[in-house]
Formats: sequence, C-alpha cells, structure tokens
Amino acid sequence: MKVLVTGGCGYIGSHTCVELLDSGYDVVVVDNLSNSKEDVIDKIETITGKKVKFYKEDICNKDKMNEIFTSEKIDAVIHFAGFKAVGESVAKPLMYYRNNIDSTLTLLEVMKEHNCKKIVFSSSATVYGKPASLPITEDFPLQTTNPYGSTKLMIEMILNDLYISDNDWSIAILRYFNPIGAHKSGLIGENPNGIPNNLMPYIVKVANKELQELSVFGNDYDTIDGTGVRDYIHVVDLAKGHIKAIEKVTKDKGIDKYNLGTGKGYSVLQIINTFKTVNNIDVPYKIVDRRPGDIDACYASTKKANDVLNWHAELEIEEMCRDAWNFVNKNR
Ligand code: NAD
Ligand code: UD1
Repeated sequence: MKVLVTGGCGYIGSHTCVELLDSGYDVVVVDNLSNSKEDVIDKIETITGKKVKFYKEDICNKDKMNEIFTSEKIDAVIHFAGFKAVGESVAKPLMYYRNNIDSTLTLLEVMKEHNCKKIVFSSSATVYGKPASLPITEDFPLQTTNPYGSTKLMIEMILNDLYISDNDWSIAILRYFNPIGAHKSGLIGENPNGIPNNLMPYIVKVANKELQELSVFGNDYDTIDGTGVRDYIHVVDLAKGHIKAIEKVTKDKGIDKYNLGTGKGYSVLQIINTFKTVNNIDVPYKIVDRRPGDIDACYASTKKANDVLNWHAELEIEEMCRDAWNFVNKNR
C-alpha cells in the first residue's frame, strides 16, 4: 500500500515516515522544505534501510499534485504540511490561511479527482481552546484563539462537509497534544530555526548554552506547583498513532477524530527537573509573567484512541527528555 505523506520532511512527518516504512508501507513524500531540509529523507532511509520517493513541491500547486497522483497511484494520504507557529500566525494571518487552507483544498480536490478518498489529518489540541474541565474528550466544544488554531478548525469543518457530501471518504482527524522527543537514533528530531516558542526546544537550547536561561511563564496557576501543565507525548508514540489511523481509514469508511496524548499532565517545573536529572545537565530558569493566551492545564482523555484505534502511548517523560537531548548531541 502506498501512502503519500505531505510535510514528510518535518518533525512529526519524518518520524511517521519511519514507522510507515518499518510497517511495510511504500512512502511518497511531498514537501516544499519551507520548514525542513531535504537531508531528512536520507536520514529516514538510513534508519529504515528503505527508499522514500521524494518530491520537492508545494501542495498548493495543483498541476504538480495531479502529476504526482497520476504517476504514483496513491492509496492513502497523511496530511502534515502546514505552518504551525501560533505567534507568527497572529502577525501574518493571511499567510497562514493561504498556506494551510489552500494546500488542503488543493490536496482534497486532487485526491477526489484520482478517487483516493482515505486521509489522516494533523489537527491539534488547540481546537479545544480553554477547556471547561479535564481530561479533554473529543466531544468537547471547539473554539480557537489564534489564526493557526482557526486553520485547524476550518480544515476539520471542510473534512466534515466533504464526508457529508460523499460517504465514500474515510477520514481520521488526529488532535495532537504536545509532541516532544526524537527518534532513538538521534538522526531526526525537532530543530526549529531562531528562538523557539515551545517549551522543550527552548529547554534544549538553554541546556546547550545557545540561550542563557529559560523563562517560565507564570507560577501562579491552579496546578501542582503553579506552573502550566500539559500532556507531552513522545513523537515516536505519536507517529505510531498514524499507523493505527491509516489501518482504520483503510478498513472503515466514515469520519472520526481522536486525541493523541498520554492522558497525563506534567508541569513546566516537572519537565525542567526531569530533563536535568535524566541528562545530568543544568537548565537555568527564571519565573516571569504568564504568557498571554496560555491556559493553566490541558491533558487528553485517550480512551477513544485506545479503544477504537487500539493505540496506546508507551514512552514516559524520562525518555522524551533523554531523546530530545540525544538529538541535539548527535547534531552539533
Ligand atoms: P513541521 O513544520 O516540522 O512540518 C511541516 C512540514 O510541512 C515542513 O517540512 C514544511 O516544509 C512542510 N510544508 C509546509 N507548507 C507546505 C506546503 N504548502 N507544501 C508542501 N510542504 C509544506 O511541523 P510538525 O511539528 O511536524 O507538524 C506537522 C503537522 O502537525 C502540522 O500540520 C502542525 O500544525 C500539526 N501539529 C503540530 C504540533 C506540534 O507541536 N509540533 C501540534 C499539533 C499539531
Ligand atoms: C503551544 C501553542 C498551541 C500549540 C502547541 C503545540 C501557544 C499559546 N499555544 O501550546 O497552540 O498547539 O504549542 O505546538 O503558543 N512555557 C514556558 N516557557 C517557554 C515556553 C513555554 O514556561 O519558554 C510553558 C507554557 O507556558 C506552557 C508550557 O510551557 O505552560 C508548554 O508550552 P508550549 O510548548 O508553548 O505549548 P502549549 O502552550 O501547550
């Protein structure tokens, strides 16, 4: 079975390519390298000992996408490609709507023309906004607070309408919580340009002495130690969730959404302390004001993914911290 992975050179896409190849799927990647590098393909091939067909293309380019679908005979698609930085989306909303929505519409039109109607889509826990209670189940009300989140919610709505119009589609919407960590090999991982926005990439740069100290955004939340609580999930566990989702869309028609998290919440201080302990390295930090728009705590109910997809996150927070640091050490 041949799976097209859009955004397959990116952080989550590259780990998913590894799991797909290890599970016996043929993999075709389309990525315009706007937030990744082509050498990721070599690394995926080194890890798996298998070949990946790579197209450096923008998925907004309908003619090119048609050519790819004509020559490759794609059975199913995992759609990662998109911009993902919350702050940037507030500053450049049109760029975010154009890229994330346009690329998805183009992809879906081309899939329909080629009668390929199985898709797994990368959504985000950001679609839950500020949840009224915890853990978050898939039927919670949806709301967004920034253009990035709105693109995810809009795409979910587009996919819903598409299914209503044509019940032949098989669609899995995956709502990721906070992916961190890296592949054990240290060959692929998360490597954002510039100053990171998210916690783990920032911790890693402080530990690596590229940045002086971490700012902990608030210690007066109603949480175990006052700092923000999130559901961190190892990127390899997350990648494995996509294999289960591909199996599901291959087997059953319909549209459904699944939380991919561990169901456990860790505070910022718990993450810092775990990182320091397992890697035996210092991470200087100071407490600063809350970050506007942040919520106190967020973690998933994973029951639906456990029961319906038969998927469970297996890796613990210690491995997430160890593997994130291993990736940096191997790529200095
Ligand atoms: P990433 O930026 O590392 O990967 C996205 C890839 O898509 C990049 O390689 C980029 O070059 C490519 N791309 C972007 N626009 C494209 C286009 N028009 N045509 C072709 N390629 C294009 O991001 P990631 O962390 O791997 O995230 C993957 C998906 O998961 C995204 O849709 C993101 O919104 C979603 N997601 C990520 C997180 C997270 O914390 N990383 C959380 C929730 C959801
Ligand atoms: C952020 C995004 C969210 C996106 C998610 C995963 C915002 C407001 N939200 O969520 O839309 O889906 O990433 O990509 O950007 N923290 C610090 N210091 C830092 C960085 C973070 O203390 O330098 C804290 C935050 O306050 C939070 C926790 O660490 O409590 C995790 O932050 P982050 O990694 O940015 O993820 P989210 O806030 O969950």
